[in-house]
Amino acid sequence: MIDDAILPGAGVTLFVDGEPVQARRGQTVATALLAQGRRVLRHTRNGGNPRGLFCAMGVCFDCVMTIDGLQGTRACMTRVEDGMQVRTPTRFESSEPA
Ligand code: FES
Repeated sequence: MIDDAILPGAGVTLFVDGEPVQARRGQTVATALLAQGRRVLRHTRNGGNPRGLFCAMGVCFDCVMTIDGLQGTRACMTRVEDGMQVRTPTRFESSEPA
């Protein structure tokens, strides 16, 4: 649940692995998911270790997800859009930067 007093801006709905997630325009995908309590954004290719928001400034690549079909998109650098499709890469997909 998003508190209107804390987060101004129009509400948008993005879909994460097919599930609707409410967010506010201006948020990044990573912060929208963190606000929903979701800390794991992907798993490493080798070992399947969980990764989530770490640097929040586009440097570490721990937050890469598949966003609107683009693999390896940094969730911390991508602002939410209404109807956006976000997918959590599995450990066997190549969303991790090479
Ligand atoms: S959290 Fe480091 S690049 Fe997104």
